[in-house]
Amino acid sequence: MLCLRGRVSSFSHLAAAVAGLRSSSSSSSSSPPASSSSSASSSWRQPASPPRSSSPKHVRLLAHSAANNMAEEAKKLAAHAAVDNHVQNNQVVGVGSGSTIVYAVDRLAERVRQEKLNIVCVPTSFQARQLILQHSLTLSDLDRHPELDVAIDGADEVDADLTLIKGGGGCLTQEKIVAGCAKHFVVIADFRKDSKSLGEQWKKGVPIEVIPMAYVPVSRAIVKCFGGEVNLRMAVSKAGPVVTDNSNFLLDWKFERAHNWKEVNTAIKMIPGVVDTGLFVGMAERAYFGMEDGSVQVRDPPVN
Ligand code: 5RP
Repeated sequence: MLCLRGRVSSFSHLAAAVAGLRSSSSSSSSSPPASSSSSASSSWRQPASPPRSSSPKHVRLLAHSAANNMAEEAKKLAAHAAVDNHVQNNQVVGVGSGSTIVYAVDRLAERVRQEKLNIVCVPTSFQARQLILQHSLTLSDLDRHPELDVAIDGADEVDADLTLIKGGGGCLTQEKIVAGCAKHFVVIADFRKDSKSLGEQWKKGVPIEVIPMAYVPVSRAIVKCFGGEVNLRMAVSKAGPVVTDNSNFLLDWKFERAHNWKEVNTAIKMIPGVVDTGLFVGMAERAYFGMEDGSVQVRDPPVN
C-alpha cells in the first residue's frame, strides 16, 4: 500500500485531542501509546490541559466528537486525492453516493472552476444528482454518456483484494451500473472502512436490493444457501421499509463467515427477485483511504 502525506498539522491536532481524551479517561499517563508507529507518534501531542475534572460521560462525548471530526477529515483527504489523481479535462465522471463523495464533488467543482475543466458528471443516485446540480456541474446520464472515463465512489468496507461492500446508503444498484460503465473505478474511504476481510469492520451485512414482492422468498433463499440472518431495512423517518431510488426494498444479509464473494455474489444475483447486491467484486482498481494520522493510503488489487 502506498502512503501519501498531507495536511498532517490539522490532523495531528485532532489526533492529539482524541489521544488526550482517551488518556485522561483511561489512565493518568502522559506518555504516547507504547505501540505507536513512528507516523502515529509524530502526530501525538501532550494535551495542553487534560480535562481531569470532567465526568467520564463528558469526556466520552468529547472524544466521540473528536473521532468524528477525524473521520470527516479522513474522508476529505481520500476524496481530494482521488479527484486530483484521476480527473482530467474533457472527461465523463461517475459520481457516487454517500457522505464521502460530498468531499469529492466539492473538490471536483473547485477544480472545474479554477482550472476551467470541461467535465460531464453521471450520477449514481438522487443524492448524487442533487450534488451535481448544487455545484453547477454538468449533469448527464448513461443514455448520453454510456462510457465513463472514471467513476469515484465511497464504500462501507474494502478488503485486501479490493472487494467492496456497498449500499449502506441504499444506492448500490445504480452505483454498480455506473462503476461498470467506467474505464476506471476508484474508491474513497476513511480508515474505518479498511479491512483484511469483509465483516471485520462493517457489521451491518451485505445490502441486497430486491423487488418488493420477493423480499420474503429472497431472504429465505439466502439464509438457506449461505446461513446468517437477513433483515428488511426499515426506514427511520417514515413508517415501513426503506424504498430505494428504483422503488425497491433493501435486505441486509448478516453473514456468519468469510465466503468466496465472487461465487456468492453470482449465486445471490440468480435468485428471482434480486436486483443486485452490494458486493463489488473485481471492480475497483484503486482505493484511497484517509488515515487517522493525516496520510492517505492507496491500495491496488493484488497481482495474481
Ligand atoms: C451508498 C454507498 C456509499 O458509497 C457507502 O455507503 C459509503 O458511504 P459513506 O461515504 O457515507 O461512508 O454505497 O449506497
